[in-house]
Amino acid sequence: MATSPASTPREPHAPLVDIDIRHKHYGARPILDSLRLTLAPGEIVALLGPSGCGKSTLLRIAAGLDRDYAGTVSYNGEVQRGPSPLAGVIFQEPRLLPWLRVADNVCFPQRARGDTRNHARSLLEEVGLRAEDGALWPKHLSGGMAQRVAIARGLFTQPQLLLLDEPFSAVDAMTRMRLQDLLLAIVDAHRTAALVVTHDIDEAVHLADRIVLLEPAGGARARPANRIFEVGGARPRRREDAGRSVLRRILLEGLETLAR
Ligand SMILES: Nc1ncnc2c1ncn2[C@@H]1O[C@H](COP(=O)(O)OP(=O)(O)OP(=O)(O)O)[C@@H](O)[C@H]1O
Ligand SMILES: [Mg+2]
Repeated sequence: MATSPASTPREPHAPLVDIDIRHKHYGARPILDSLRLTLAPGEIVALLGPSGCGKSTLLRIAAGLDRDYAGTVSYNGEVQRGPSPLAGVIFQEPRLLPWLRVADNVCFPQRARGDTRNHARSLLEEVGLRAEDGALWPKHLSGGMAQRVAIARGLFTQPQLLLLDEPFSAVDAMTRMRLQDLLLAIVDAHRTAALVVTHDIDEAVHLADRIVLLEPAGGARARPANRIFEVGGARPRRREDAGRSVLRRILLEGLETLAR
C-alpha cells in the first residue's frame, strides 16, 4: 500500500483495492487531491486527519457511493462504476432498522430465511453474539451489541474490503478494545482488507499496518501531503508497547500541525 501522486504507475499485479483520486471538490472547495492508496488482502490501513479533511468522503468514494470525483477506484484491477459489492461499510452508529429483528438487519435488504438465516446466525456467533439474539429487536441491544450486529451486517455479503468510519467511537473503553480485537480476528479469518477512519492514535497504532495522515486539500503544501507511516510488528500487538511511543508522538504532532 502507498500514497503518492496520482501519476504513479500501476503495479504489474493488481492489488485488491486501488484508490486513485486526482481530485474531489464540493462546489469550488477542494476536499481531496492526488491521493493514491492501495490495499492487499489482510491489510489494515488507518486514516487519521483533522475533522473535515475528507476521511468519510474518501470512504464513500472507496465504497462506490460517491462517483462525483476525478479518478478511479479499482477492485482486483477492475474499475468500479457504482456501489461495490466487494465493499462492506460499517459506520460510527450501528444504523439498524428498528422495525426489523436483528437477523433481518444482518441480511438486509434480504430477509432471514433458510440459507440467509443460517448465514446470519453464524455471523452473529462470529461477532460474539448468540444465534438466538437474531430474534431480538434493535431497541433491546446495548450499544456494543448493536455495533456487533452492524459488523455482522457489514460481513454479510462476504466483502473483500471493510470500510469502517469511526466504528468504535460511540462505545465505552472496554467494549471498544473488545471490538478492536474482533476486527483483528475478522481480518485474520477472512483475509479481508480494512480501511479504518479513527481520531484515536492508539487505536490506529494497535490496528493498522499503515497509517495515513490525511492533509486537508488545498493547503499551503509547506508540509508533506498525506504522510504515510509503517507501523510494523506482527498482530496482535500489546497495547502498552512502549516501542511505538515515538510513532505516537509523531502522529500527535502531525495532527496538531494539520489542525492549526
Ligand atoms: N454533501 C456535501 N456537500 C458539501 N460539502 C460536504 C458534503 N459532505 C461533506 N462536505 C464537506 O466536506 C468536508 C469533508 O467532509 P468529511 O465528512 O469527509 O470529513 P471528515 O474528515 O470525515 O470529518 P470528521 O472527522 O469530522 O468526520 C467537510 O468540510 C464537509 O463539510
Ligand atoms: Mg467523517
